[in-house]
Amino acid sequence: MKKNTITLINNSTGEKFDFDLIECTRGPKAIDFSKLFERTNIFSYDPGYGSTAGCKSTISYIDGNNSILLYRGIPIQDLVDKYTFSDICLLLINGELPKNNRESKEFELELRHLGFLHEGLINIFKAFPDGAHPMANLSSAVGALSTFYKDYMEIDSDEGYHMMAKRMIAKIPTLVAFSYRNSIGYPYVYPDISRSYVENFLYMLRAFPDGRLGMTLDGEVEIDPLEVEALDKIFSLHADHGQNASTTTVRNVVSTGVHPYAAISAGINALWGPSHGGANEKVLNQLAEIGDVKNVPKFVDRVKDKNDPFRLMGFGHRVYKSYDPRAKAIKSLKDELDKKGIKMNARFSEIAERLEEVALKDEYFIERKLYPNVDFYSGIILTALRIPVSLFTPIFVIGRMPGWCSQVIEHIKSGARITRPRQVYGGK
Ligand code: ACO
Repeated sequence: MKKNTITLINNSTGEKFDFDLIECTRGPKAIDFSKLFERTNIFSYDPGYGSTAGCKSTISYIDGNNSILLYRGIPIQDLVDKYTFSDICLLLINGELPKNNRESKEFELELRHLGFLHEGLINIFKAFPDGAHPMANLSSAVGALSTFYKDYMEIDSDEGYHMMAKRMIAKIPTLVAFSYRNSIGYPYVYPDISRSYVENFLYMLRAFPDGRLGMTLDGEVEIDPLEVEALDKIFSLHADHGQNASTTTVRNVVSTGVHPYAAISAGINALWGPSHGGANEKVLNQLAEIGDVKNVPKFVDRVKDKNDPFRLMGFGHRVYKSYDPRAKAIKSLKDELDKKGIKMNARFSEIAERLEEVALKDEYFIERKLYPNVDFYSGIILTALRIPVSLFTPIFVIGRMPGWCSQVIEHIKSGARITRPRQVYGGK
């Protein structure tokens, strides 16, 4: 029988080494190089890890050439059309969708009840200055959560892992809302368990200190269910995405045996960067900078100028060499909401669509396979939901939380060794 191996030949010595190929259910196989150094005294070199699989995973799958993203084997479009974000959280952390409506509702209700914060944690926000970026507040607050749940270090059971994940998913919207309100000097509004997980988040952002959402001559303002549905879908579309920079950070940090909340806090910092989740904030700033649809060609020319570091934010991806399926879903959601009465900023929408149209026909983008990514259109919807730009990346954090928690559980259970890459030394 033909062996499933790859042979590495050292052309200077003639030595040959066989390495096993690791089987997978979808996508490219991997060469098992875990003993490469031991056997050859040579490292593999792959800065940015473009060709390196750091773990085995069953959580999400991306086929970057064919615009496919699966959560636990199910295409994201099917999930967001039929299931809520809390159902998708269950799918990611448990491996299965809720079996029935009751299970789905019970889980969502549990999240509502776990959304409160220890009062001591609230004092931490008070120490941050007005105007601080909510991502900075958020990563510190999530790190601090580990001081309130010390028990976790001793827990080593499915029940313990799931409690860790549920707490984190439940509390993150409250942390985001509090960090935002703190950053603008507004008093905090506590969770309202009569409201759904997603509605409660909008409530905590928008409510006046007396708990009302505002008054008009017709009476009290309420949250539009269409807004809740839109935000639910945005969270769902961000729920997991393979071994991206922030997830890899979470796994690396958790591999040291640290408290999972400390690892997630590190993931939040990794996500903040403009090359990663921070791009959604930059996209909106860029649309404002472009200012008018007539300026689009000028900005596309800047992208192509080798002497100009300008990049089109919300474009390009390490894995997608075709249209990001999340961007496609977010673009249709934007159009659908606009038709249903949640009005998008017409100028931003027009500039973004023209940018996409021009870019997709341009040789520079075609050659490099650069398409809009998840961050390109999400900010336009979030603006229509009256969410401030500084909260775009924290919104991404809420969406990604079930993914990070599932990755933490998978990593711990796999018994993986501490992450410890090598280097090619070039110094004195
Ligand atoms: N605008 C213009 N050119 C780009 C862009 C872009 N947005 N993205 C990549 N390129 C070009 C690069 O200049 C490079 O060209 P070259 O071969 O002539 O040097 C080529 O495409 C390959 O780019 P890399 O930077 O090597 O690709 P990499 O996979 O390392 O980076 C990344 C991916 C960081 C997402 C990149 O496309 C980028 O900076 N995009 C803009 C920021 C962004 O939208 N980030 C969000 C990504 S999605 C997420 O993380 C949630």
